[in-house]
Amino acid sequence: MKVLLFGATGNIGRAIAAELAARGHEVTGVTRSAGVGTGSAVPLVAGDVADAEQVAELAQGHDVVASAVGPRIGADDDRTIILGAADGLIGGLRKAGLRRLVVLGGAGSLRAADGTRVVDDPHFPELWKANALAQIEALDRYRAADDLDWTYISPAKLIEPGERTGVYRLSGDDLLVDAEGRTRISIPDYAVAFADQIEGGQALRTRVSVAY
Ligand SMILES: NC(=O)c1ccc[n+]([C@@H]2O[C@H](COP(=O)([O-])OP(=O)(O)OC[C@H]3O[C@@H](n4cnc5c(N)ncnc54)[C@H](OP(=O)(O)O)[C@@H]3O)[C@@H](O)[C@H]2O)c1
Repeated sequence: MKVLLFGATGNIGRAIAAELAARGHEVTGVTRSAGVGTGSAVPLVAGDVADAEQVAELAQGHDVVASAVGPRIGADDDRTIILGAADGLIGGLRKAGLRRLVVLGGAGSLRAADGTRVVDDPHFPELWKANALAQIEALDRYRAADDLDWTYISPAKLIEPGERTGVYRLSGDDLLVDAEGRTRISIPDYAVAFADQIEGGQALRTRVSVAY
């Protein structure tokens, strides 16, 4: 498949790009800086996901548009980047006449067993709160875009470098917890789940979450 991937040089985007390339997909990565010197597994071009015109232009000829965009910590405003991405992607796909959109989301809106949202946990890290709340607003914008075949993929609460096992569990709005009470996924295994959704995911116009 031909995939246009915004945020292809990020911590998670890099792994998604590598996973898709290893599966033989033709991936074009897009970041504001064109990722000079990042050693990306895929060719990169410069572009701003918040600019729907640019998204539409770049998306021409692709089967799927994907995004792993996030604010650079300390340099960007969380809400501006995350909601800018949602609006730019939704507007850009509409302009391009494309339907399939797969995006990296947040875990903040997942529901714990007691019904509370992850972001409302009193121990939720203050540093990540604005990002998590922006991701919740972005999910609402995707949910309103029912003319597109979008999938919003929330990682587990903890997503970190680690092994690629190829094994993961998929849920919807509920927080997945393992036998030891942890909620985690490695970045390479999150990338496996993301690529699986691009290739043949049936979760259209919905959020899924990925964890062990
Ligand atoms: N458990 C959780 O809920 C959880 C955990 C981790 C991450 N996340 C979510 O995933 C997001 C991404 O995380 P990450 O650590 O992979 O981020 P990251 O390493 O900061 O990477 C962000 C990527 O987005 C690109 N980018 C930023 N703004 C852009 C724009 N306007 N147009 C095009 N590309 C743009 C950056 O490249 P340039 O700067 O060159 O543009 C970079 O490639 C986070 O912000 C968060 O929302 C959630």
